[in-house]
Amino acid sequence: MSSPGSFSRLCAALLCGLLIFFPSALVAAPTNKSCDSVDEGYRCSPEITHFWGQYSLWFRVSSKVDVAPPKGCTVSFASVLSRHGGRDPTAGKSMAYRLMIAQIQTTSTAYPGKFAFLKDYNYTLGADQLTDVGRQEMVNSGAHFYKRYAKLVAKKPPFVRSSGQDRVVESANKWLQGYAQAAKQSTPGTIDVSIPEAAGVNNTLSHEICTAFEDGPLSELGDNAQDIWVSKFIPPIQARINSKLGTNLSTTATIYLMDMCPFDTLTSPTAAVSPFCYLFTVDEWHQYDYYETLGKYYGYGNGNPLGPTQGVGYVNELLARLTETPVQDHTNTNTTLDSDPKTFPLDRKVYADFSHDNDMTAIFAALGLYNSTKPLSNSTVQGTDVTHGFSAAWTVPFAARMYVEKLTCHGEEEESVRVIINDRVMPLEFCGGDKFGRCSLNKFVKSQSFARGGGHWDQCFADTT
Ligand SMILES: *[C@@H]1O[C@H](CO)[C@@H](O)[C@H](O)[C@H]1NC(C)=O
Ligand SMILES: *[C@@H]1O[C@H](CO)[C@@H](O)[C@H](O)[C@H]1NC(C)=O
Ligand SMILES: *[C@@H]1O[C@H](CO)[C@@H](O)[C@H](O)[C@H]1NC(C)=O
Ligand SMILES: *[C@@H]1O[C@H](CO)[C@@H](O)[C@H](O)[C@H]1NC(C)=O
Ligand SMILES: *[C@@H]1O[C@H](CO)[C@@H](O)[C@H](O)[C@H]1NC(C)=O
Ligand SMILES: *[C@@H]1O[C@H](CO)[C@@H](O)[C@H](O)[C@H]1NC(C)=O
Ligand SMILES: *[C@@H]1O[C@H](CO)[C@@H](O)[C@H](O)[C@H]1NC(C)=O
Repeated sequence: MSSPGSFSRLCAALLCGLLIFFPSALVAAPTNKSCDSVDEGYRCSPEITHFWGQYSLWFRVSSKVDVAPPKGCTVSFASVLSRHGGRDPTAGKSMAYRLMIAQIQTTSTAYPGKFAFLKDYNYTLGADQLTDVGRQEMVNSGAHFYKRYAKLVAKKPPFVRSSGQDRVVESANKWLQGYAQAAKQSTPGTIDVSIPEAAGVNNTLSHEICTAFEDGPLSELGDNAQDIWVSKFIPPIQARINSKLGTNLSTTATIYLMDMCPFDTLTSPTAAVSPFCYLFTVDEWHQYDYYETLGKYYGYGNGNPLGPTQGVGYVNELLARLTETPVQDHTNTNTTLDSDPKTFPLDRKVYADFSHDNDMTAIFAALGLYNSTKPLSNSTVQGTDVTHGFSAAWTVPFAARMYVEKLTCHGEEEESVRVIINDRVMPLEFCGGDKFGRCSLNKFVKSQSFARGGGHWDQCFADTT
């Protein structure tokens, strides 16, 4: 057996991934067999693994600006907004993937070369919950945060909120565990506030209540844009797969076969790249990444007229924390929670919130972080905007994280703000970001007029009859 898949698993065991992609590891004498790591995140076969849209495992995104605080500055405030870690497919998808594998195994007439493993592949994926690899991502993320902010957090434990879904709550607890391990604390901290995900609940970490966004035509924009792109990029892939296997997978089933690559990787004990991944070319993975990116952009980001509005409540909470003044918002914040210092203190210096990819996409859009990204075309891959870096893999992979920090710098009276998405420092050009990506606190707050004005929340309940 020498399919690329088994090669990669063997390779992971032998640290080949490390040696091939991070030659410096030779010098550093790697001590870890896993494809995942605290500092860099996912590091095996980056030419494909960093192109799985929101199903990518977290990796450190390259940054033009040094992510370390500038010389002469100390961090005086740090906040993280995190996605949950890698999980099994959602229940409906898990069922659909099982059927797709069954279709292959009952109809295929051949399993040539790299396809050989499919013949006896045993579908065992569960649904909705974190996998062990996903749990480890969150442990690593807690350690990553602690290492970065160790000086600040020494006497200032984070105030932690989580959206209520199981995998999000578990992710927050794993993050706290990794944080405690890195801090050499015997007992991890606990979640301070968990906000239910249910109809009618105001939850800034999970969209629910804006009717015009949840139902009706706006809720379909992401799918519509993806459908156009699928009709361009999938047919050649589908034809090749069907001709190799002698089967008749539909367009949708072909996408499911691609989805199996990240989800099967998430079940490997060492997070080794799955053999499903090698059924497709590097170019095809870039097309797939674009497909996932379109779904986020038109579903929850700048491409959706009410996308950014879904992130407004969280941004107003962030502004309240940054300025230590009460939350001013009339969108999806819960005034009962946010007016009580027990559930929304204003005097803490370290905050951690746990949420989902869609909500984070909307929050990034509400902040205006990707305002200068050219609107995405639904019919050709638009090269990643390297200035702002909008791709679903760069913004909301599993265990994605946004750090917002305040800096106090020698010789400067006013505090400044930086926003760091997956270790990439954002330029903040809309508030005069300097070469370190810093804006003065005052200018940053001013730049957030969209959120402070409630976005387009008034359009959420417009009469559509
Ligand atoms: C190595 O991997 C293990 C388990 O996946 C993890 O606990 C540990 O933090 C990792 N170490 C480094 C240096 O990445
Ligand atoms: C498939 O996986 C299940 C669950 O792990 C196991 O019980 C079963 O024996 C496996 N079947 C084969 C053919 O390997
Ligand atoms: C707001 O939070 C309170 C306290 O947790 C809860 O009882 C109430 O149901 C919430 N209301 C809404 C609309 O979310
Ligand atoms: C695709 O893009 C074209 C050109 O921008 C636009 O006219 C069309 O409405 C888009 N279609 C969908 C379904 O997004
Ligand atoms: C393949 O499936 C499609 C429906 O998904 C059907 O229209 C077509 O006839 C099938 N082709 C073959 C060769 O079975
Ligand atoms: C929940 O949000 C709605 C819509 O903005 C608002 O009318 C209501 O007062 C909020 N409820 C609470 C408890 O904050
Ligand atoms: C981003 O663009 C929107 C829409 O044009 C605008 O309302 C908002 O103020 C911009 N955000 C920033 C931070 O510039």
